[in-house]
Amino acid sequence: MNTQKTALITGSSYGIGKELAYLFIKNGYNLVITARSHDKLQDLKVDLLKEFPDRSILIIPRDLSLPDAPLHLVNALKEKNLVIDVLVNNAGYGLLNSFHEADLDQQLNMIQLNVNNLVSLTRLLIPQMIKNKTGGILNVASIAGFVPGPNMAVYYATKAFVLSFSEALHEELKPFGISVTCLAPGPTLTKFCEVSGMKESVIFKMGAQSAQTVARKGYKGFVRNKVIVLPGLKNKSITLITRFFPRYLIRKVIHRLQKIT
Ligand SMILES: NC(=O)c1ccc[n+]([C@@H]2O[C@H](COP(=O)([O-])OP(=O)(O)OC[C@H]3O[C@@H](n4cnc5c(N)ncnc54)[C@H](OP(=O)(O)O)[C@@H]3O)[C@@H](O)[C@H]2O)c1
Repeated sequence: MNTQKTALITGSSYGIGKELAYLFIKNGYNLVITARSHDKLQDLKVDLLKEFPDRSILIIPRDLSLPDAPLHLVNALKEKNLVIDVLVNNAGYGLLNSFHEADLDQQLNMIQLNVNNLVSLTRLLIPQMIKNKTGGILNVASIAGFVPGPNMAVYYATKAFVLSFSEALHEELKPFGISVTCLAPGPTLTKFCEVSGMKESVIFKMGAQSAQTVARKGYKGFVRNKVIVLPGLKNKSITLITRFFPRYLIRKVIHRLQKIT
């Protein structure tokens, strides 16, 4: 392993995470990429090394929704004597369904991935960053984190957690030279649409950004140590509007937009 910095990117087999992997390697980082789809990670590694042959890429395939996944991941890094300079907590998913009908285990699995294991991985990797007096964290939340989301109640709540957690850590870790940025995308054309069941939803039909655009804006904001990155004018406007309207109205509108047909 050479002396370049290393970024660990969760959920880098598809979508926004894959695009972030490209941006980090392009900007001089070595990578640790992780997700469940080993084949997709392998394809990504081959493609990236063709373009950036002097970098190193380690694949650690993991189901990050398993409770002990963060510890296993960090132990795998220790075995390779790998120091993580930047942690990108991107892996996550959402589900469009009414809470009373949703499978409880699935909802809890979502919380485990989107929240619990994001916290664990962050907590496990921060001490080394503090010791090195440098480091960065890029957490992927959502504009969903700014509002309540009827018919996606748990998902919206997980993203509200990520947003709040990131903002708090941004302040806490500043004195240690560690930057913390929260990327809050709006609808983005990735596998998320199918996984969440939102492909035909009004929200996605109203227009979605490409994963490339979202990742580019996220990376730029991270480099500038912005606390929250809202990619694009539409997402900025939506979150601004929610501040001026009463919450009862906001949640009613979202309920309508996220109708289950
Ligand atoms: N797309 C949107 O409209 C949108 C909007 C706002 C926020 N976001 C957020 O953006 C982030 C990235 O999503 P995306 O849009 O890029 O969706 P995506 O294309 O579905 O990518 C999700 C990534 O997370 C990984 N992942 C999912 N479950 C996992 C698990 N149990 N263990 C390990 N990795 C897992 C997936 O890999 P494997 O399937 O290979 O495991 C994949 O690499 C998520 O946190 C999502 O909530 C998305």
